[in-house]
Amino acid sequence: MKKILVTGSSGLIGSEVCLYFAAEGWQIHGVDNNQRAVFFGPKGDTRWNQHRLENSIKGFVHHELDIRDRQSVLDLLKEIKPQQLSTLPRSPATIWRPPFLLPISIPTPSER
Ligand SMILES: NC(=O)c1ccc[n+]([C@@H]2O[C@H](COP(=O)([O-])OP(=O)(O)OC[C@H]3O[C@@H](n4cnc5c(N)ncnc54)[C@H](O)[C@@H]3O)[C@@H](O)[C@H]2O)c1
Repeated sequence: MKKILVTGSSGLIGSEVCLYFAAEGWQIHGVDNNQRAVFFGPKGDTRWNQHRLENSIKGFVHHELDIRDRQSVLDLLKEIKPQQLSTLPRSPATIWRPPFLLPISIPTPSER
């Protein structure tokens, strides 16, 4: 089974990416540390969306990880060896201190 690693998986776009690829038969690995709640308070909390994915996607694996932690991200990539990667976090921290060490890479339907 092909694997995709989605960062910002509990967010608006990331969660939809997870659902889309799950429907296409991929195994989903999500990375999110609920950073949104750190910056925006309880109203920014995305745990509910994490739980939604855990309940609706068979085999969904959540990784509680700060993507600014480069070594942990590299270790996770080595462990999972995903065929596809999607990076979608957004927060003040990720804006002023870009952790985007990984390319955004979502193939178009014709490329899959
Ligand atoms: N929402 C839109 O309409 C829209 C449109 C165009 C582009 N985008 C882009 O898509 C990306 C995602 O947007 P969104 O609306 O899904 O954002 P969002 O805030 O809903 O989701 C971002 C998720 O990333 C997580 N996150 C933030 N920093 C993290 C970190 N350091 N480590 C781990 N997880 C972290 C947050 O907890 C959150 O769950 C952004 O880059 C945004 O600019 C969004």
